Amino acid sequence: MTKKHVVVGLGEIGLPILKIISKKIQAIGYDTNPKLMDNKKYEKFSNLDTSILHICIPFSKKFLSQVTSLNKKFKPEIIVVHSTVSPYTTQKLQASLSIPIIYSATRGIHKRMISDVKKYTKFYALEKNAPKKKWASQTYSRLLKKCRINSKIMSEPITLELAKIVVDTSYYGWLINYAQLSNLIAKEHKVDYDEMWSFSDEIHNLLGNRPKMYPGFIGGHCVIPNLDLMHNQTLNLIKKINDSYLKKIPKAKSINKKYVKSKKTSYNSKV
Ligand SMILES: NC(=O)c1ccc[n+]([C@@H]2O[C@H](COP(=O)([O-])OP(=O)(O)OC[C@H]3O[C@@H](n4cnc5c(N)ncnc54)[C@H](O)[C@@H]3O)[C@@H](O)[C@H]2O)c1
Repeated sequence: MTKKHVVVGLGEIGLPILKIISKKIQAIGYDTNPKLMDNKKYEKFSNLDTSILHICIPFSKKFLSQVTSLNKKFKPEIIVVHSTVSPYTTQKLQASLSIPIIYSATRGIHKRMISDVKKYTKFYALEKNAPKKKWASQTYSRLLKKCRINSKIMSEPITLELAKIVVDTSYYGWLINYAQLSNLIAKEHKVDYDEMWSFSDEIHNLLGNRPKMYPGFIGGHCVIPNLDLMHNQTLNLIKKINDSYLKKIPKAKSINKKYVKSKKTSYNSKV
């Protein structure tokens, strides 16, 4: 009998992931908010066994117990965690559950999440002691291939858990911090920010190592909240610098509009 996939958490990443998967295989969505669910479809397929349970809920102190109770509810063969999680979450989940747990961080931004999920290679990783590791890895990579998404396995989940925060969202925040600092210096000396940065544009074009970011305020719900998953004092400076920048430049929240409107060169105006 056909098995179903279940996507849990029908928010900014869960709904696009459900839409992509359900074009190719039998998949249903589940959310604590019933208004987000297709209840008719959910009931229709409730008797089918669950192949993969896709976790797309926000990380919190309750995350492990939430995934454990979702595992009991749907009894899947494999769990794939698409959420951004605190380091070692996959290890803890694997230690408490007898099915293979795959960590597969998600990249993309809300307004174009479907195309971003398809565009980026979906990295994933399993613990060394995961049961049926090879089979689970093949099953997941076959699913991604079916959905026309490239996949790449990493050696262990901790590498990917750290990558999502340290070299993706926090790195982005760190670069914007530098734009904020350089804007404060430009203002102090009454020089034009863009003119000052034009000196670096050519170096960036040649070497690719001087990206100019616009000096806005870091809002959204990834860069700053993800710092709380790390508890790293140095990375926490990103939040401190961002907060103190807003006090000094109260209009910081609308600076991006100038760049988006005028199409001035900067790298965070494109994301
Ligand atoms: N939004 C993004 O651009 C983005 C990008 C990459 C990664 N992520 C990560 O993806 C995860 C989810 O983020 P999001 O932006 O989609 O969140 P969201 O708030 O948009 O959606 C989460 C959904 O999960 C539901 N939910 C929460 N707990 C549940 C439970 N126990 N059972 C069933 N449903 C539950 C909520 O009702 C909500 O509908 C987070 O870890 C986030 O960091 C988000």
